[in-house]
Formats: sequence, C-alpha cells, structure tokens
Amino acid sequence: MLFVRIVMLFMLLVAPAFSLNIISKFAKLFNGLGSSGSQEATGLALPTAAISNTEIVGKNYEDNVMNTYGRYPMTISHGAGCKLYDSEGNEYLDFASGIATCCLGHAHPLLKKAISAQMDKVHHTSNLYYIPEQGALAKWLVDNSCADKAFFCNSGAEANEAAIKLARKYAHTKLNIDFPVIITALNSFHGRTLTAITATGQAKYQKDFGPLTPGFEYVEYNNVDALRNLVKSIQSSGNGRGLAAIMMESLQGEGGIKPASYDFFKAVREICDETGALMICDEVQTGMGRTGKLWGYQNYDNIEPDAFTSAKALGGGVPIGAMLCKDKFNVFGPGDHASTYGGNPLACAAGLAVAGAFSSENLLQNTLDRGNQLRSLAAELKEKSPSVIQDIRGIGLINGIELTEECGVTAADVSKLLLKNGVLVVPAGPKVIRFVPPLIVSKEEVDKAMSKFANALETLVQDIKNNKK
Ligand SMILES: Cc1ncc(COP(=O)(O)O)c(C=O)c1O
Repeated sequence: MLFVRIVMLFMLLVAPAFSLNIISKFAKLFNGLGSSGSQEATGLALPTAAISNTEIVGKNYEDNVMNTYGRYPMTISHGAGCKLYDSEGNEYLDFASGIATCCLGHAHPLLKKAISAQMDKVHHTSNLYYIPEQGALAKWLVDNSCADKAFFCNSGAEANEAAIKLARKYAHTKLNIDFPVIITALNSFHGRTLTAITATGQAKYQKDFGPLTPGFEYVEYNNVDALRNLVKSIQSSGNGRGLAAIMMESLQGEGGIKPASYDFFKAVREICDETGALMICDEVQTGMGRTGKLWGYQNYDNIEPDAFTSAKALGGGVPIGAMLCKDKFNVFGPGDHASTYGGNPLACAAGLAVAGAFSSENLLQNTLDRGNQLRSLAAELKEKSPSVIQDIRGIGLINGIELTEECGVTAADVSKLLLKNGVLVVPAGPKVIRFVPPLIVSKEEVDKAMSKFANALETLVQDIKNNKK
C-alpha cells in the first residue's frame, strides 16, 4: 500500500516535470531554439507546427483567424513556376498569381537567391539609416518611369495613402487650398484602409465604416463630360474648396478589367495641367509589367502622371509598396510620412530581383505575346458561344472575360469549377473572370488553362440547361 502511495506521489510531482522536460528538449531539437530560454521559464507554449492538412488548418482558422475572407477550403503547400500544389498533391495552373502579384511565379531562382542572400547579410534596419538596396531599387524605378523620387511602404493601400497625403500637402502649401478635394472614379479600387476605401468608388467597401475621410468626390470612369462638370463645380464651390488631385487606375482591375479610354486619360491630364492638381495613377495592379509595359500609363502615348503608386508585383510576392512622384510635386520633408518596414533590405532585395528579371528574362515581350494568345483563344470561344461570352477585355496579362446575363453562369461558378479542374483564376465582379498568370507563363500553359476554361464553361452552361428541363 505504502509502495503504491509512493509511486502515485512520484507520478503526481515528478512525472509532469520530467515529461515537460522531455517535450521541451524534443521541441528544441526539432525547432532549433538553441540554448537560451525554455518553455518552463517563459511560460509560453511553443507554436504548433504548420501542418498543411486542410482539416487541421481549417480548424485553426475557424478558432483563431478573423473571418474577413471567403476562402476556398484548400491548402496550398508549395509551388514552382506557374504551378501550385495543394496538401493532397493536386496540381494547379496558377492564373491568379496571388491576385496579380507573383509576377515571377513561384520559387523563382532569382527571387530565392536574392532573399536568402539578403537574410545572410541583414534583413531589417529601419529608415533611420541608409539602406543600399532601397537606394538601388529607387534608382531603378526612377530610371524606368516618369518619376523622380520614390517613397517605400508595404502595400498598395499604403502607397495610395502616401499619394493622397502628398496631394493634400501640395494643395495646402502650393495651391493655397484649405479644403483639398480628390476625385476618383466610380467602380475603382484603391485598398482597404479607411482613406483607401473612401477613395474607392464602390459603396459596398464603405458600408458600415463611416464616417469616411472627407474630401473625396466620384465620377463615372471614362465619362469626360461628367469629369469636367465635377471639376467645374468643385472649383466654383467656394469655402476654400479646390481640386487637389484626380486619382485613377489606368485599367480598373477589381472593377471588372476596364481600361481607361485615351480621351478620358487625356482629359485627366489636361484638367490637372489647367488647375495645378496632381494626376495620380494607381498602378498597384497594372504596374510592374502586367500590361506588357512596365507601367499602365505607358499605354497612353505622351501622357505621364505626376505621381503613381505600385505594390503587388513590385516584390514578386514579398510585401513592398511604393509611391513615386515628379520632383515638382515632392513636397514631403522629414517627418511628413514614414513606415517602419517601408523599403527594408529584405523587401528591396526582392524588388531588385524582380527588376533584374525584367531586364534578363524579356518578361514584357512574353506578357504581350501570351496576352495576345489568351485573348485570341477567348475570341474563338466567344465566336463559338456568343450567348455565353459577353466581352473580352484587357491588355498584356491582365484580362477579363465577361459572361452574359442570359447564360446564368457567374464568375464564382467558373472559378470554383476551374479550381476543381486544376486552374486558379480570380473573379473581378459577379460576371467577369480575371486571368492574371505570372508574367513567365508559357504558351503551353496558356493553351491548357484556356482549354480547361472552355470545358468548364460548357459544363456549367449544360448543367443550367439540364436543370431547366
Ligand atoms: C488598383 C489597386 N489599388 C490598391 C490595391 C490595394 O492593394 P493592397 O491590397 O496591397 O493594399 C489593390 C488591390 O487589389 C488594387 O488592385
């Protein structure tokens, strides 16, 4: 009896400590945590391993991640080139590129090499000191655009915030405007911060988040008369109000792949010249080669913006954003704007690798060629099925195929079925399927994706017909 009591006491007091010790030793062994600190001493549990089993990941999300996205229940485990693989080993042709971001595809040797080499040197220092990679990336961007100076941040919304602040400061200090007004387009998309959703001319992104940032007015995209009338009313409204900027995408991405007309783009330029306001181009989705030119505005002969923003493809999937402007509009001084991470060595090393790929891999020509191929395959499909395909729009490798109302199929239906059949695409609105593959995509990959798209459409249309019978 006494022996049993002694064993139980040992189990209660010593065994837990002993087993915790063993667990922690094993954890250190597997996680390489080294000798400093231990789980007992910190009182913090070790993070669980990132197991890519979809059920476990899904549960982790359900319990711990805010529910701000509609997600497909799949877990991507790795990728190479234009292909991604899920945790069950299924292969996908990636025509989504992390939403027009992974311009070099996945595991690109130049990007991998640049990031690991930078980690071996230094990955973050802050903007209190010179960062050679930031200087070099700024130089490349300035040398290859209409801009003279760059400010670095981490995302598209932040880059747009920087441009909005720049335009407001320019209006206050150079145009003597007390209440600066910025015009953006209806159906535009500029990001999810409070000011970026205000700039975004779509009520669905603003709902429930008011009061919004004051000083924004909206105009129908590509409507020159409406734009001129709005400018007239702002300039004559008194109370210190005045036009500070017109901010627009050269092609509306989230708004359904709609390019600006030359006349609209030209009118924006003319109005900005007449009033002194800034012409700002949001190049977050169109920039860094997506349209077959380095910047979307370069598709409009002899028209240059005063400032533009970039993100997404700038780091090939490593978070980085930038706002660039001409010297005349560079009114920022020390303390006016900042970002702890903005332009850090790691992100800029990625940006430099992407920039290098543009010069060594002829990405722009490939973007134009593959874009032409994709649109001509889509046109053949439209000719065969005019009752299903309404329109084909795009430049380079940002393309949208719009479905007719009458066919009854939605962009979400097509995306879901394509995912099942091994192709990733992103809807851009309820009826537009967006094709934004990596800019390294091959002829065979475009053929394959478009053939799977044709099959998916046929299946969905047939299903609807069968259900009606
Ligand atoms: C044109 C445009 N601007 C801004 C953004 C916002 O970029 P981010 O999500 O990096 O903040 C996006 C994102 O889709 C975009 O397409």
